[in-house]
Amino acid sequence: MWGGRFASGPDAIMEAINASIDVDRHLYRQDITASKAHAAMLAEQGIITADDAAKIAHGLDTILSEIEGGKFTFQRALEDVHMNVESRLTELVGPAAGRLHTARSRNDQVATDFRLWVRDTIDQLDSALSDYQRALAEKALDHAGTVMPGLTHLQTAQPVTFGHHLLAYVEMAARDRGRFADARKRLNESPLGSAALAGTSFNLDRDMTAKALGFDRPTANSLDAVSDRDFVMEPLAAAAICAVHLSRFAEEIVMWTSPLVGLVALSDKFTTGSSIMPQKRNPDAAELVRAKAGRIAGALTALLMVMKGLPLAYQKDMQEDKEGPMDAFAALSLSLAAMTGMVRDMTPDAARMKKAAGEGYATATDLADWLVRTLKMPFRDAHHVTGKIVAEAAQTGVPLHRLPLEVMRKIEPRITDEVFGVLSVDRSVKSRTSYGGTAPKNVRSQAKRWLKRLEKGR
Ligand code: ARG
Repeated sequence: MWGGRFASGPDAIMEAINASIDVDRHLYRQDITASKAHAAMLAEQGIITADDAAKIAHGLDTILSEIEGGKFTFQRALEDVHMNVESRLTELVGPAAGRLHTARSRNDQVATDFRLWVRDTIDQLDSALSDYQRALAEKALDHAGTVMPGLTHLQTAQPVTFGHHLLAYVEMAARDRGRFADARKRLNESPLGSAALAGTSFNLDRDMTAKALGFDRPTANSLDAVSDRDFVMEPLAAAAICAVHLSRFAEEIVMWTSPLVGLVALSDKFTTGSSIMPQKRNPDAAELVRAKAGRIAGALTALLMVMKGLPLAYQKDMQEDKEGPMDAFAALSLSLAAMTGMVRDMTPDAARMKKAAGEGYATATDLADWLVRTLKMPFRDAHHVTGKIVAEAAQTGVPLHRLPLEVMRKIEPRITDEVFGVLSVDRSVKSRTSYGGTAPKNVRSQAKRWLKRLEKGR
């Protein structure tokens, strides 16, 4: 394709380091679509004949069905997907094929193809994220009133509801979707027609190709268009953040399902056994989701490092922009499917959760709040009094709601037996009705709001 001034072929090592076909073959569909748009535009502008454009379009359709039917042989000697397709086109339609590359370079071609690929990937991830959110919101609705221990510093803090905990991940996923959607808006400009770096002397209609490929507009600077990789760095950054969210949840699943904790169980569908210890039920899927966050964040770092020293315009370094991101987006997609499956599969042990929620004097804040509300104590004083009561309870080893009234009265004589109304974990969560709080009625309405919103595809 470029051998005019070359007398001999490349060394085998040169070919091995140069070829990208094993990776960029995944762009075949986008490459063919973009070539068809380019050819149609060239004909419309009178740069090639309508007859040649028709032959090219027909040939490209044939190649698409050959590739999808597994009848196409990609050749390493032809370097990349662009030259593999063009070479086959030459076999199929003869000299017309040679006109396709008019006013185009592989530099704007690959930038266009990969943008289209990333855009498709974002759309798939968005739908996977919405499935994940739906699974979470449905489970949250089922467990709006299931009380569990809320932790800070991994210490029992205050009772919360399991539904509330799950909805926290729905919010995170919503921000992830927002980040992908923002990146999608920015990437949706067409580099096609920027040619190698300087634009072209042919009278192109770049608006026509942009429109045909679903882009909002053509890119405004040809140098930027061929050397920009923000369109993959940005979604990859969104992917890394999303993977970190999944990893945090995966870690909680690993912890909850440990027999030491036992708050949640996964079925046989999402656990594996041990080849030596017959009793084991390992949360491998959750552990792997946790690990994949490392791969995904690693791909982002790798791409940032590839790009950081590159002057304008296209440099071959940029060929390394695909393997890591493609692997990372696939890993994210699989992680999302696994998390969605685990959410649907998991069963909380409600009795154990409730018991654990009451341990560690988790309703101490409720007692302090009661002192503030009923005795008009300043919160700092109430905190101090409650601390003394908790110390007393801890000494005798009884939970707060079993501590005799006299004991509390010795510390604060104005306490009445009304206080017992706030010391149970159920009362505690029920009272947290502030907007965004954990009260079952809040959780129920938030879960329903999400389900309705997801129904509408948002
Ligand atoms: N395979 C190349 C890539 O992915 C295509 C662009 C090559 N351009 C060039 N001038 N060698 O980056």
